[in-house]
Formats: sequence, structure tokens, C-alpha cells
Amino acid sequence: MVLMLRNQELLSKIATSNGHGEDSPYFDGWKAYDSDPFHPTQNPEGVIQMGLAENQLCFNLIHEWLLKNPEASICYSTGAAEFRDIAIFQDYHGLPEFREAVAEFMGKVEEERASFDPAWIDESGGATGANEMIAFCLADPGDAFLVPTPYYPGFDRDLRWRTGVKLIPVVCESSNDYQITIEALEAAYETPQEADIKGKGLLITNPSNPLGTIYYKDTLEALVTFTNHNNIHLVCDEIYAATVFSQPEFTSIAEIIEEDKICCNRDLIHIIYSLSKDMGFPGFRVGIVYSYNDAVVSCARKMSSFGLVSSQTQYLIASMLADDEFVDKFIVESRKRLAMRHSFFTQRTLHQVGINCLKSNAGLFVWMDLRRLLKEQTFEAEMVLWRVIINEMKLNVSPGSSFNCSEPGWFRVCFANMDDKTMEIALSRIKTFMLQHREAMVPKKKLCWQTSLRLSFSSRYEDIMKTPGSFMSPHSPIPHTPLVRDQA
Ligand SMILES: Cc1ncc(COP(=O)(O)O)c(C=O)c1O
Repeated sequence: MVLMLRNQELLSKIATSNGHGEDSPYFDGWKAYDSDPFHPTQNPEGVIQMGLAENQLCFNLIHEWLLKNPEASICYSTGAAEFRDIAIFQDYHGLPEFREAVAEFMGKVEEERASFDPAWIDESGGATGANEMIAFCLADPGDAFLVPTPYYPGFDRDLRWRTGVKLIPVVCESSNDYQITIEALEAAYETPQEADIKGKGLLITNPSNPLGTIYYKDTLEALVTFTNHNNIHLVCDEIYAATVFSQPEFTSIAEIIEEDKICCNRDLIHIIYSLSKDMGFPGFRVGIVYSYNDAVVSCARKMSSFGLVSSQTQYLIASMLADDEFVDKFIVESRKRLAMRHSFFTQRTLHQVGINCLKSNAGLFVWMDLRRLLKEQTFEAEMVLWRVIINEMKLNVSPGSSFNCSEPGWFRVCFANMDDKTMEIALSRIKTFMLQHREAMVPKKKLCWQTSLRLSFSSRYEDIMKTPGSFMSPHSPIPHTPLVRDQA
């Protein structure tokens, strides 16, 4: 405590505030995994990580490519001749061949329905850095962005922490499959105005994390019209674009702009992209801001100095993405494998034990509906169930409250960050748990928890229920209803 107070005097507000958002069940789940990680032979009872949106399903294709193209890595003897040119100082424009290759890749992902100009690409350290960079370019401290719920928990860190920008939730609900409505948008847009805060833009994630759903064309058109009408920015985080594995197809905001069907000020449109999800390279920290606004391109380019992608990585990625045959095969195969994983996970397993998920066709996760397992429809009850899932099922899944979901009982479960065997073990744990508590899934007049289910939970569960403060993750403040959460 004394140390904390002393630090508050010694250090900056950023260093001593909780703006990073690390104290949330989203990150606590990772800590639970880190302290007891599953290993098939060394720790078979450990926690399985299902809270990490990683795409590992096509690593063998990348591996094959790397073996065939050793010169792409300047560390092998065949590529060593390039070392000097790559290792010396690079300005913040990045390697031209890198920007060209990324622009072309984005076009391929969009199946050439839109094209991307390498001149409008600015580099950043992953989409994390790109989202912060766009916030720095578009908003001043105290200004706000509207964000449809549920949304990626990292946005609270990426857009708010160092920029001082606020996020205003646009409340979307399960009753219409979380589709954004103009009424919800307008209500959210009025919130900052009433508090004398400038609403500077709308940030959407298409395809959505955590929902795994895409925005339809007519919705995107309506959002462009809304943002244009109010003269605010539209930022589209499209980092899951290539994970769309079945119809309806993905539509980039670039396609809407190019179709020119609606009157629109292009200066207000910006895209965030990265290779963390579509290629499965979060460690390479390849992120970009793609803006139609020259002033933003120019400012973000200068800001790139703070998070430029290493030139060795740029060189490797440029070589890999320039290989059309490889890229075409990769995109098709990755979609196929994601579709299979998704179908196995949802229809062939969860559905059989009575668990429904939101219908989705993209992403590296499903949005699982466990509302029927809640003792009562509150976020406290959601946290209790989350603790049971971590402590008894030994699965790290992420509770809806950490995504600012407006109703309790939903959980995001990642399915592409593990091999088939680990997934089977995870699914068998879910099956066993559900069979033990199957009464919960039989519709009853009364809520299941009010009848037999409560009795059927293990004594561990009862212990958790009885322990004061146990609703919370050990590192978390009381999980308020997202709408009343302090937005500062
Ligand atoms: C919607 C969204 N945006 C941004 C990020 C950050 O991505 P990166 O690893 O490229 O920084 C994530 C990561 O999960 C995400 O889901």
C-alpha cells in the first residue's frame, strides 16, 4: 500500500493507473492457465487454454514453405547475402515490397472485390498498435469512440489506455443475434453529447471477435451513412477477414467504398488489419492502418517509428505473400480447416450435450450460450460459473462480461489454438461436466437452478458459492453491468 502511494507520487498517471485493463477475468483466465498449463503427458489434468484467439491449424503449410524458401530468412546461408541491406536503418515507410505484398494479400482475402493501394498502408506493431495509432490520429484525450458490444477486451487497453480516449458501448443483444440497430447507435451517440464529450467515431470488428459473425453489406452501408451523416469516423478492424469459412461471404468496407453506391466522405474511413489471425502470426507483430485519408496516412506514417515491424520480418512476409500459389492454397486450406474444426466443435459435440452457440461463420472461436446454467441471470452468477469452468472443467474460456456483453451467461471459446487431441480432451471434459449436470439442460417450468441442478453440483461448487468475494476473479473489481462500468 505504502509502495503504491509512493509510486503514485513518483510515476506517471499512466504507469500507476489501471488503464491497461489487466485486472479482468479475460486476463485472469490466462493467468490460471499459466499457473497450471495442460500438457498431454506432463500435466494431463492441467488447464486447457481456450481463451486465446490463435490460428494454429495451418502451421504445417507455413513450415513447408519455410523449408522450401530458406533464402526468405536472412539467417540461413542462402539468404545471408541480404543481411546487410535488411539490417541497416530503415525509415518508417517500411519496405515497399512488404506494403505491396500486404495490399495484394488483402485483395486476395476479399476475392478481388476490392483493391488496396500500398501507398495507403502504414505499419504498426500488430493490430494492437494499429488501433492505438488510429485513435491517436483521430481523437484527443476525452473524445470517445462508439463500439458495438460484445467487443474484444483488448480495445479497452489499445484505444483508451495511453490515448485518454473513451469507449461508449453500443448495446447489441442476443434477441436479434447481436445485430447492430440504428436505435442502439443513436442512443450511444447521444451519450457523449449529453456529457459534453465529442463522439469521434464508430469502431467495428468485422468479422466480430467474440461473435464470429460478419456484417452484412446493407448493415455496412447503413453504418457508412450514419457516420457520414454525423461527420464521425468509421474504423473497421478486419483482422479476421480470411477466417470466414462459409457463406455469407466477408465484405470489407473497402468494397462498399469502391462500389460507390452510397455518397460517402472517404476521409472518414479507415481499416485496421494484421496477420495475427488470418495467417496465425501474432508473434511477428505485423499490423497496419489502411486509411483513405491522406492526412491520417501521413501522420500514422510518422507514428510508425514507434512500432515499425522489424525489417527482417517484413522481408520474410514480403517473400511469402508474393508467392501467389502458396497464398491461394493457404487461404483455401485455412478456411476448410476452420470450417471442419467449427463444425466438429459445435454440431458434433456441443450440440449433442445440449449447448447452443450463436450461429457463426468466421473467427477462431464460438460464442457459447450457458445462460441455462446460471443460478440467476446476473454477472455475479456468470463469474461463479466461470470459476467452476476453470477450477473443475479446467478449461480457460472467457466470460461475456469481459467483452462488455450486455447480458450474462455467454462465454467465448477458442477452438483453433490447439491440436486435434487436445481439442478432443477439452470436449470430453465439457461432455462429462454436462452429463453430470444434465438436468440443467432439460427445459423446466422453473429455472433449472431453482430445482434439482443446484443440488447436483459438486461440493466444490457449493464452496465457491459460499466463499465471500468468490464471485470475483482474484484480480478483478466487482464485475459491474457493463453499461454502468466507468468509462474513464
Ligand atoms: C478484434 C481484434 N483486434 C485487435 C487484436 C490484436 O491483434 P494483434 O495480435 O495483431 O495485435 C485482436 C487480438 O485478439 C482482436 O481480436
